[in-house]
Amino acid sequence: MNDLSWAATQLAARKPDHSLPQGLYTDPRAFDFDLDAIYARSWLMAGLECELPTAGSRLALTIGKWPVLIVRDKTGEIRAFHNSCSHRGSILCEAGHGSAPRLICPYHRWTYGLDGSLLAAGRMPADFNKGEHSLRPVPLRRVAGAIFICLADDPPEFDSFGQQFEAYAGPLNFANLKLAATDLMVEEANWKLVMENARECYHCPTGHPELGQSFPVQSAQDTVDRDFVEAMDRLGLPHAGVEGSWWQLARFALNAGCSSISMDGQPVCSRPLTTLNGGNVGSLRWAIDPHLFAHATGDHVFVFSCMPVGPRETHVFSRWYVHKDAEEGRDYQIPALKELWLKTNLQDKELAENNHRGVLSPGYRPGPYSLEAERLVTRFADWYCQSAKDYVASHG
Ligand code: FES
Ligand code: FE
Repeated sequence: MNDLSWAATQLAARKPDHSLPQGLYTDPRAFDFDLDAIYARSWLMAGLECELPTAGSRLALTIGKWPVLIVRDKTGEIRAFHNSCSHRGSILCEAGHGSAPRLICPYHRWTYGLDGSLLAAGRMPADFNKGEHSLRPVPLRRVAGAIFICLADDPPEFDSFGQQFEAYAGPLNFANLKLAATDLMVEEANWKLVMENARECYHCPTGHPELGQSFPVQSAQDTVDRDFVEAMDRLGLPHAGVEGSWWQLARFALNAGCSSISMDGQPVCSRPLTTLNGGNVGSLRWAIDPHLFAHATGDHVFVFSCMPVGPRETHVFSRWYVHKDAEEGRDYQIPALKELWLKTNLQDKELAENNHRGVLSPGYRPGPYSLEAERLVTRFADWYCQSAKDYVASHG
């Protein structure tokens, strides 16, 4: 059985509103299938534009096993390329942030401009046409200060998300942010278990005592807090939950007396992103399938991004952003900025790894989701199965 027909059999066995068949979580074939069917075909949030502050700034990242490079050029344009040299394919830039006026391959020094054009290639014949050897572009969209990329030549529809994201995130002015801290957590669990866990708060009351200080872990996020809704309406800040097939957006109130998602519910940065409503604008949550959730409160932005690196290994990248004029040590302390989500992510890592070990049991059978407490998990699993079936149908 080839991998596609294996996947089709697994997908056909999925019971509605139940967790997935065992093989989709544990079989090594699911890893390559998921990268091809899901990660290569979805819009992913690569980061925020503030991570590329000047001409020549770049960010190299790996999507599954594929290296991608994002660069800001001299005109301010931001472009994405496959991070693979047009000569013999070497990685051009190591993963992470950097800055240089040109992109020089470390192998034989082929040199590219910030627009991806090949500028120099030593010892090639006189009739060598550099114009035929530019870097291969990757589709990229910029909206409200965020950067989205998709490895597919025919990406899914973007604009309905883009318009809503602009309306919800625009007032927080992400262009005024800076990346203040990052973290990489390696989890011994299939990426779908990591994401299912990230899409529900059924486990939060017992699993995350610290998060529960500020985050309304007991209630559905669309529970109406009348004062909050009236304040947001007065300020023209959209708050109602909206969603498309691969995204969700909502602005919701935090627990009484809290204006940030932090250990004590108070701001972790004294230089606010907004002074609207005294800096208390609840949390703007956005979620992108397959890989991300984020929270923007009045003082900082937290982004969680999940990347599969093996059938049972997942990288969780966390990023914290604050106002660009905030000064470390004066306006914020890195340990305090990171403390809540580091604790929460570590708790989630243990839950997801424990989940994976249990799913390996011969006694595992897909179980029913709570449609009240796990609506977003059901939605994620449904989206995954539908995307995977579409891929099988178009490649079978
Ligand atoms: Fe890049 Fe040779 S592989 S210059
Ligand atoms: Fe959790």
